[in-house]
Amino acid sequence: MRSKIILFVITGLIVVSTLAFTACTAQADPTDTVAGQLDPKQVFAANCASCHGAHRLGTPDAPNIMKEVLVSYTDTSLASFIKGHNGQLLTASQAAAIATYLKTK
Ligand code: HEC
Repeated sequence: MRSKIILFVITGLIVVSTLAFTACTAQADPTDTVAGQLDPKQVFAANCASCHGAHRLGTPDAPNIMKEVLVSYTDTSLASFIKGHNGQLLTASQAAAIATYLKTK
């Protein structure tokens, strides 16, 4: 009986620490962008996916941002929106690369 309780507690601790670890890694740090990193997929994964979802379909925290939703933006207006959005620390070229990516893919 006692060993079952201990096993239960240990399992609980493992589950909780795994969840905590996953939560931390899923919350991409905006400062994570490697200087000069222009691959929009990687920039998105590091800076946007935590709120908008890995597939851009949205989460409870942020809306769907598939290209169909972004028709009212031009590449330029989208880039400047993204640059100032949620305190992003993207460079102008990263914002431009990701704007083009979001508009076309
Ligand atoms: C902290 C959560 C969060 C992060 C990180 C985030 N967004 Fe958002 N985003 C939101 C929320 C909330 C909205 C809706 C409110 C608004 O427009 O600000 C939004 C709106 C948008 C819109 C406008 C959608 C529309 O229909 O007009 C775009 C485009 C967008 N985000 C792109 C990005 C990109 C690109 C990144 C990464 C560089 C990013 N977001 C990072 C939360 C986030």
